[in-house]
Amino acid sequence: MRMKQLYVLIMISICSLLCMIYSSNAQMSGFMSLNCGGEEDFTDNIGLEWRSDNQFPFGERATISVPNEARKQYMSVRYFPADARKYCYTLNVKRKTRYLIRTTFLYGNFDDSNVYPKFDISLGATHWSTIVISDANTIEVRELIILANSPTISVCLSNASTGQPFISTIELRQFNGAIYYTHGQENEFFLAVSARINFGALTQDPIRYPDDPFDRLWASDSLQKPNYLINVAPGTKKVSTNTPINVDRDERPPEKVMQTAVVGTTGSLTYRLNLDGFPGFAWGVFYLAEIEDLSPKDTRKFSLVIPGMPGISKTTVDIQEIAKGKYQLYEKEFTNISLPLVFNFKFGKASGSTRGPLLNAMEINKHLKINPGSIDATVMASLVSQYSSADWAKEGGDPCLPVPWSWVQCNSDPQPKIISITLSKKNLTRNIPLKLTKLQGLVELWLDGNSLTGRIPDFTACKDLKIIHLENNLLTGEIPSSLTNLPKLEELYLQGNMLSGTIPPGLLLNQKLVFNYSGNHDLYKEGSNGHGLSIIIGVSVGVALLLLAVVIISLLRMKSKGKSTPRENMGLEQSTPHTQHLHQDEPRSSKRNRGSSSRDAPPISSTVESSNDEEDVAGRGRGQGVRHTREQSKRARAGKSRDRGRVRVKELEQERPVVGLKLKTLFFSGLFNLSFSSSRDVSSYVYWFIQFIVFIIQGYV
Ligand SMILES: *[C@@H]1O[C@H](CO)[C@@H](O)[C@H](O)[C@H]1NC(C)=O
Ligand SMILES: *[C@@H]1O[C@H](CO)[C@@H](O)[C@H](O)[C@H]1NC(C)=O
Ligand SMILES: *[C@@H]1O[C@H](CO)[C@@H](O)[C@H](O)[C@H]1NC(C)=O
Ligand SMILES: *[C@@H]1O[C@H](CO)[C@@H](O)[C@H](O)[C@H]1NC(C)=O
Repeated sequence: MRMKQLYVLIMISICSLLCMIYSSNAQMSGFMSLNCGGEEDFTDNIGLEWRSDNQFPFGERATISVPNEARKQYMSVRYFPADARKYCYTLNVKRKTRYLIRTTFLYGNFDDSNVYPKFDISLGATHWSTIVISDANTIEVRELIILANSPTISVCLSNASTGQPFISTIELRQFNGAIYYTHGQENEFFLAVSARINFGALTQDPIRYPDDPFDRLWASDSLQKPNYLINVAPGTKKVSTNTPINVDRDERPPEKVMQTAVVGTTGSLTYRLNLDGFPGFAWGVFYLAEIEDLSPKDTRKFSLVIPGMPGISKTTVDIQEIAKGKYQLYEKEFTNISLPLVFNFKFGKASGSTRGPLLNAMEINKHLKINPGSIDATVMASLVSQYSSADWAKEGGDPCLPVPWSWVQCNSDPQPKIISITLSKKNLTRNIPLKLTKLQGLVELWLDGNSLTGRIPDFTACKDLKIIHLENNLLTGEIPSSLTNLPKLEELYLQGNMLSGTIPPGLLLNQKLVFNYSGNHDLYKEGSNGHGLSIIIGVSVGVALLLLAVVIISLLRMKSKGKSTPRENMGLEQSTPHTQHLHQDEPRSSKRNRGSSSRDAPPISSTVESSNDEEDVAGRGRGQGVRHTREQSKRARAGKSRDRGRVRVKELEQERPVVGLKLKTLFFSGLFNLSFSSSRDVSSYVYWFIQFIVFIIQGYV
């Protein structure tokens, strides 16, 4: 009984171990198969594990049915609006690793409109191909061989000129070794697969995984489609073998592909086909292996003829000799060859050869120039990574190419720069991203209506900035004076934040700037040591002293009734209010009116009015003594303010008869000087007040 249980247990363990090994072998690592628009994951009958793209935030799903197509991955599509945007799938890859990326498109009239879509597909910033659907039931396939340079790649659909862009599958297949190594050109060119053909194929089906460990698709030469392998020479014969073939070198074509071939029994093989994406420069390979049993007397020597390329036909190929035997792979390779859209080629028997030419397979890949993308791509990638859950941060691909993200505008340079960012009302929190200050071409920045906190960063490096909208956030701290370093600034909206401190005078003086800073209750205009508050205190102290002085004078008058001559009362004659100072100030006040804001901000506007009042009082106060006051001011400007005081006291001692006039002059010039002096601290008021009292005592005692 016990032995039996143990036996069962052991059997179960062995079985599960085997099952585990089987499942991990079922699919090569480095495969990723995405079933776009599919509802659930599944494994197909050749062992590929298909994943649904139901996490993808854009587009809609549709199911289709097509005659003679039962594969589940083709029964669904994801489609997108025909707008000016791009829709990108971002896929994880290993850096410094070579991949085959395959996208497929089976229209199947998913939108019931029978409008055959036409749109572009790109890899990152590089335009890959234009997908042109010309039959509802035919699968369009695009393949690209790339060396991954970053941890992710983006496959993007855009520029729908007809119908709606859609996609059926995306497949990633990792290569290993130096397969498809393109001689140091890999950072400049992708390889866009144009033709990969298995000659002498036994069926119309392509050969792929598991026969090809990298799941390349080797199309059958028996396939019937327009402009595909026509002009076949008479006497062309298919041959095949079951003998193993050594394919373990270079691009490793599958053995099954090498076990079939075509032979030109009458001395030549000819073909014509259209090459997708050409004219262009190509990396072309002919895969050759001797699979016929030749008698010792037989030879097979031939040369390749491509119209317009006489150089290529000079070399004669003897497969057995070069490959050192039968059933050995030989790759006849052209690393950079210029090819037309309509490709004609011919293999011709060399003189003295007893057998006609032979061809097992061929591959033609276009050198596709990699677009380096926008200058700001790295900065933007790290910016969006901070907001990874927001839809706007998931748009993927290059921020500018082939079309910009929906919230970005770029200039039209070959390597574009970002000129505008619009992230209004996107629920942004935390600080204004410092990355934004690295966008050197930035002209417009719209971050209004978010919940951004912290300080406004230094945008000095964005010297083209014209428009900054940061209103209605939770920004704190001072308005950085670095904003005055932006020579092109035209619009600065900071209203509705919690900014504090002094507004940099440079911004207020900038005539062409529309500047709104209302609703920041701790924000003040430039006073000396900063704060509007001190101006208010200063004015209040001035008014209090004025009242006090009136009281003292009245008291002294009452005491010395009849002793002195009647004097004009303290009421001051109206004089021309527009003095030099007011004129000088005009630009400032007109600017203030343009820049809306100051009126809306209670503390600021009240401050402004108070200082206007001061000016008026000072202006009116001058009366007959205007000239004198001006001279004094001139002297004051030249000398030190303390000296000025002393000089004035001396003058007054000598000129008793005009005491009343002098009194007024001194009083208002003092007030005037204080109002406009650059150091408006309390001590100068006190000094002035003491002077005033001293004068009164001198005058009346
Ligand atoms: C969009 O497609 C049209 C027609 O297919 C083409 O002329 C145009 O250049 C494309 N635009 C972009 C930005 O690729
Ligand atoms: C192929 O040759 C052309 C012309 O000589 C050259 O411009 C191009 O860069 C070459 N491509 C590669 C991948 O070497
Ligand atoms: C912002 O957040 C609120 C609440 O979380 C949500 O209702 C709103 O849709 C969000 N807006 C955007 C543009 O994401
Ligand atoms: C400045 O902002 C306030 C508050 O949003 C607004 O009421 C006012 O109209 C704005 N002024 C201008 C000129 O836009």
